[in-house]
Parts: sequence; structure tokens; C-alpha cells
Amino acid sequence: MSNIKSYHERIENFDWKIAEKELDYEPGNVINIGWYCSDRICQMGKADKPGLIWEGSTGVEKRYTYNDIRINSNTIAQFLKDLGINPEDRVCLFLDKIPELYIGFLGILKMGAIAQPLFSAFGDESLFIRLDNAQTTAIITQKKHAPKVRKIMDKMPYLKHLIIVDADPGKPLADREVAFDLAKAGKVDHFDIYPTTAESPSVLHYTSGTTGQPKGVKHVHYSLISQYLTAKWVLDLQDDDIYWCTADPGWVTGTSYGIIGAFSNGVTQCVLDAGFSADNWYRFIQKHRITMWYSAPTAIRSLMKAGEEVIKKYDLSSLRHLASVGEPLNSEAVIWSERVFGKPFLDTYWQTETGSIMISNYPGMKIKPGSMGKPFPGITATVIHPETYEPFNETGKIGLIAIRPGWPAMMRTYWKNEETYRKKFQNGWYLPGDRSSIDNEGYFWFVGRDDDVINTGGHLVSPFEVESALLEHLAVAESAVVAKPDFVNMEVVKAFVTLKPGFIASKDLDLDIMNFVRKKLSPLAMPQEIEFIDTLPKTRSGKIMRRILHAKEWGEEIGDTSTLEND
Ligand code: WTA
Repeated sequence: MSNIKSYHERIENFDWKIAEKELDYEPGNVINIGWYCSDRICQMGKADKPGLIWEGSTGVEKRYTYNDIRINSNTIAQFLKDLGINPEDRVCLFLDKIPELYIGFLGILKMGAIAQPLFSAFGDESLFIRLDNAQTTAIITQKKHAPKVRKIMDKMPYLKHLIIVDADPGKPLADREVAFDLAKAGKVDHFDIYPTTAESPSVLHYTSGTTGQPKGVKHVHYSLISQYLTAKWVLDLQDDDIYWCTADPGWVTGTSYGIIGAFSNGVTQCVLDAGFSADNWYRFIQKHRITMWYSAPTAIRSLMKAGEEVIKKYDLSSLRHLASVGEPLNSEAVIWSERVFGKPFLDTYWQTETGSIMISNYPGMKIKPGSMGKPFPGITATVIHPETYEPFNETGKIGLIAIRPGWPAMMRTYWKNEETYRKKFQNGWYLPGDRSSIDNEGYFWFVGRDDDVINTGGHLVSPFEVESALLEHLAVAESAVVAKPDFVNMEVVKAFVTLKPGFIASKDLDLDIMNFVRKKLSPLAMPQEIEFIDTLPKTRSGKIMRRILHAKEWGEEIGDTSTLEND
């Protein structure tokens, strides 16, 4: 029996108070995500229940009960407090998917600071832009990632502490560096939770836009209300579930549903901190008897590519419910999963800014493969005309996705960028920046993004950031970055580059430029292909027309070129 008994019944008379009541939260009172995800679960009689089962790339396993999570997050909270970190200071988590990331996140929230998770594969430039914008006070990392921080330390006088969780004992550390070993630290059984309230800031996640630097999406503790309820109704988390969210908490899925949604529902969750391989993933499901699996289209397409023989080697009969997020989930993937796992992946749609699932398929609902499903109860979503910002009168029209603001997990602003935040609203609607249509049964069909942001394997990459990085390369005169189609990742980064005089295109230069971007930004932002060209198409005012290059890659009509410079 699923948690959402009937979607239609839930829509009628829906009130977020349902979640407030289940969480015993009274408006105006203290609400602290760190406490809800550990202490409260213990108080509910689940102290000895496994909360986190972690497996590293070498197969080593660590297990934490909810009481372990409670005490260890207290320990981290106390350590940060003793260091002199204040409520609302930004504390960055720059870690692989290790237990310190999950437990540290809760510890930061318990002492009232703001958790700023950053993807551990980020290069120094990506890191610096985000730390500098947030004026981060402390960063928690591993020794293997510390050199990237050290490289930019001098440019960050506000960064008071570089905390290393696996420092070599006895090895002297530099100024501002401090070692913290969770396994060896004196355990703190009682910590006075900082009395955060609904609007106290909790998490700062960075996301990419087409222009300008990455935006810091500010969330608050009240987001718990929608994260808890969507995890319960859409992911259908139940007491005996063994849950696996494959996302990295460097991105929003990994925090909203890989930490908050999972722990606030008190389930056992498994984490695999290893690179992707079909064999290893199926083995993981078999070993831990995973029941609920939340993953992403790129992973599903990679599994499809790996074929069906490998599936037969494993017992995957524990799987009860599957869901996906991050990119369009094509109908082939839904049909394939139904055939090979006996369950379709249910598509869910949302974004960093929305904090929780907005549109999705629900257990028990008729699934239309290729559709994102319907709005979550309490969410008013539609599709509006891109110029008038009015909803369409007929179904089937393609327009901008528009959502009525006001759900609990909605971002509260972009960090120090109120102007861009305000631009996300039109005519009383919040615009996520995506295009869709709605059919006559109210199902949403994703069409594409409304900007040039590249969604590669579920990760948003700003063409602007990649172009800026390319321009720093010695040989590059100009660049334009667009998405190129790809079977597994749906889109990959492609760069068009013109060279400075004296440089000649070659395979070596190609590789050199790719590596340059990989180190500066991240492996995701690295162009998979570089095309050297003589001139870039530009408007008469000198703006690069990415649209033309994009159309060429996708074999589409080029459209209106009346503003093109060289026609
Ligand atoms: C895209 C990830 C199609 C969309 C949770 C959105 C999707 C952006 C889907 C957010 C989906 C997310 N179908 N596209 N089911 N889910 N997207 O902020 O463009 O990393 O705006 O959050 O990914 O990406 P973000």
C-alpha cells in the first residue's frame, strides 16, 4: 500500500499543515532540520535502527544507527561551535560521498550555520567563485581535495578554517588548517540545538545560469515541510524501506532527498561512494536489498547501454519503487525499466530553486511514459505564454512552466543577487526557466530549457562559465559553448574556438584546452569536443549567436538570422 492513497483525494483540501502536524511542528516554534533528521527519529523509538549504510570504492562498509547519526552530528556541531563559527556563517562541505558529508551537513544545521555543499570534483576556479560569493567562513574537506583550496587560500581572507577530516596524524598543518577526525573525536551526547525558526537560513546551493556567475540559492529550515512530505508521497518512503538515492549531496537532489527527505522519514539509507558501473550498481542493490531507488536518466541510459545479460546475474527482486530526476526521462527508459525490473521509473521534475519535487508521477497513478506527470498536491503549476505570461486556454500548447510561489521549500533569494531573483517572477508566477506543454488529462510534457544552460547528465553547466575559462587559455581568442546531443548524457558540452594568431589547431592543443577547463572548472564542464573555426557567428552588435551553432549540432532549422553580422 503506497503512502499517497489517492492523488485526487490528496489534491482536494490539501494543506501543508498535514506535514506540520506529522512533524509536530507549530508555526512560530523552533524548527531545525538537523534535529528532525536525527534526535527526533531517536525519540520516535528508532535510535537503534540503521540510518546510514555507507560503502566506499574499496568495498569497505560503515554503518550508523540513528543514535550514531545523532551523536556524531552533535560532535561535529560542537567542534564547529568551539572553533568560533557563528550561526548563519557559511560552512562549506567539499567532500566525496563519505559519512562526514551526510552527518556534517546535519551538524552544521544543528549549530545554526548555513551548509554550503560543493561538488568535490570542482576545480579551484569553480570553487573560488562560489566560496567568494558566499564569503564562506570554514570549509570541511579531505586531504586529497585540500590542495585545490590551498591554491586559492590567499584570495580568501574571510575563510578562517580549512578543516581536514582525514589529515595524517602528527603531520603539521599550515596556518588556518585544522584536523578533525570524526571516528576519534570525543563523542558529544548532548548538544544544545541552535533555535532556528522557519525562516532561518539552512542551505546554500549553487546553480548555473546562462549569463553571469553561479547563483547561490538560499533555503530555510521550513523547507523540511515539503521535503519530508514529497519524500513520503512521491518517493513513497516507508518504515521498512532500504532507500538508495544515487545523487551526490554536492547537488540539490543529494541534500533534499539524499539527506533531509530520507532521514526525516526515518528510513535506512544506503550510500555508494564509487564510480558508476552497471555490475557494481546491481550488486549494491542485491547486497543491501534496496527497495526504493531514486536515480537519474543518465544513469538509467547507461544501464540500458550495459544491456540485460548483466541484470540476470543479480537478484533485484527487493526493488519496490523507482523514481528519476534531473533531465528528461525518455519514454524508452520508462518502458525498458518496466520490462527489466518489473517497475517503471517514475519521473519527477523540480530544481535547486524549488527545493522539493514540483511535478511528478505518483505511485498508483496512470503512467504516461515520457511525461513528467502532475503537480504535487499544494502546488499550482501551469504553462504560460512566453510574452503575455498568461496561461493558455487550450491544452497542448508549448509555453513556460509557471508555478504559484509559496510552497515551503521555495528558495528565499539568490545570495547577494536579489535582482536576478526578482526576475524569476512574472505576473505572480515563479518561472523555473523550462518549457513544457500540458495534455488534456493535466500531464506535463517537458520540451526543453528556456535558456542556453547545458544539462549534461543531469548537471547544469553554464556556457558562460566555460567560455570564460576557455578565454583564459593562452591560445584561445574567442569561444562559444553549446550543447551537443549524446545518447547517455542527453547533452554534452561542445566548444567552438577561434585561435589567436600564431596558434595552429592540432590534437595536442585540443587536449590541452580540454584539460585546462577540466582542472579549472570540473570534469562535467570540460568540452567533450572542440571545433576550431575561423569566425564565430555574431549579431551586428557583436553578441555571439549560440543559437546558430546549437541548431547546427542538433540538425535543426537555423531560423531567423536577420541580425547576423556577416550576412
Ligand atoms: C531539468 C535538479 C526534464 C530542468 C533537481 C530543471 C528536468 C533543471 C527534470 C534543474 C525532469 C529536472 N525532466 N528536465 N524530470 N528534472 N530537470 O537545479 O531543466 O540541478 O530546471 O535540480 O533540470 O536542475 P537542478
